[in-house]
Amino acid sequence: MWGFLVAAFSVLYIPLIVLDSEQIDVISSGFTNSDFQEDDYNADDDHNSSSDHHHHHDQRHRDNEWFEEQLEDDLKWSFSLNSVLHAVTSQFQDIALLDTPRFGKVLLIDGKMQSSENDEFVYHECLVQPALLIHDDPKTVFIMGGGEGSTAREALKHKDVQKVFMCDIDKVVVDFCRAHLTANQEAFHDERLHIAINDAKDELEKSEEKFDVIIGDLADPLEGGPCNDLYTKSFYEQVLKPKLNDNGIFVTQAGPAGILSHKQIFTPIYNTIKHVFKYVIAYTAHVPSYADSCGWVLASDEPLRLNVEQLNNRIQERIKGELRYLDGASIVSSTVLNKTIQTALLEETHVITKENARFIHGHGLAAEVA
Ligand SMILES: *[C@@H]1O[C@H](CO)[C@@H](O)[C@H](O)[C@H]1NC(C)=O
Ligand SMILES: *[C@@H]1O[C@H](CO)[C@@H](O)[C@H](O)[C@H]1NC(C)=O
Repeated sequence: MWGFLVAAFSVLYIPLIVLDSEQIDVISSGFTNSDFQEDDYNADDDHNSSSDHHHHHDQRHRDNEWFEEQLEDDLKWSFSLNSVLHAVTSQFQDIALLDTPRFGKVLLIDGKMQSSENDEFVYHECLVQPALLIHDDPKTVFIMGGGEGSTAREALKHKDVQKVFMCDIDKVVVDFCRAHLTANQEAFHDERLHIAINDAKDELEKSEEKFDVIIGDLADPLEGGPCNDLYTKSFYEQVLKPKLNDNGIFVTQAGPAGILSHKQIFTPIYNTIKHVFKYVIAYTAHVPSYADSCGWVLASDEPLRLNVEQLNNRIQERIKGELRYLDGASIVSSTVLNKTIQTALLEETHVITKENARFIHGHGLAAEVA
């Protein structure tokens, strides 16, 4: 998976030598497989040992270790790195936990930032809380994906929620996060949480139960990625919707929603869901570690009531502990989109099907093998 970084390295290294010798260190510390060893980052290396100009080992340069992520073909960003805490490869994905000064601990899957300790509460509250607070009496929640545990944690904040089913395809992600993400320890130990390791489609199909809220906490659709079918109209219509109770609510993350990025998958996902449910709401929030706004789409066949006072009352009554990002007013305001985004949502005509998918930049392991 780090192939693209090696490629980026060889392209960028040469021009930068000419431009600015300081930056060479930055680029030269982009990950390669040989960097990907914890020992490499221990602070007590021999400071005079470096004969390799690509990998200085003194502290000054250590401060200049950078992680670089290719966001789009023509866009990458990077952030400084303290250390690589853990890294494993599963059958499906590459998983790593970084320690960074800006974001705290950062979970990477297939080289893409999934969430960061310092701002994941924004993403996870937005994904979970509006649906659970709009619903009149949510008791059962099904999470597609969510192996990290943060989505379950948010749902379990609701005192009246009786069961949270989390279905992730990748046991390695679940075990990795259970072991390493301290913020979710309590959630992982909550008796109301039921974890299945399976494809969410299979799991929903075979479920005899129906749910009050179904949450899509999936990776973005990615060429060769593991969750593309879970964004299609036929999946929503034939598999997901029949497993929602009558007044049930479905919500999914819907990728980047910024001025320059919303047409990749946000507007197609919104339009696809509009073909399946009667009432659909799109909303967004800026997530710093995502380097963009993030979009969500929430849907039901019952009218969706967004009332500031009612939402605030429900937060008071239902939630154990506190929300850090959302209150009634900010939930409502997150659904009020600027004209650029609002117009694009309404004008979108694309419906996502298996044959006619939409992807964001990058590709999963399956595409690399293929
Ligand atoms: C590193 O080199 C400097 C200067 O040559 C020397 O004074 C110092 O003792 C060396 N340190 C180590 C750890 O070898
Ligand atoms: C318009 O909305 C999008 C999505 O919420 C956001 O990313 C963007 O920053 C907004 N534009 C401005 C100028 O605020």
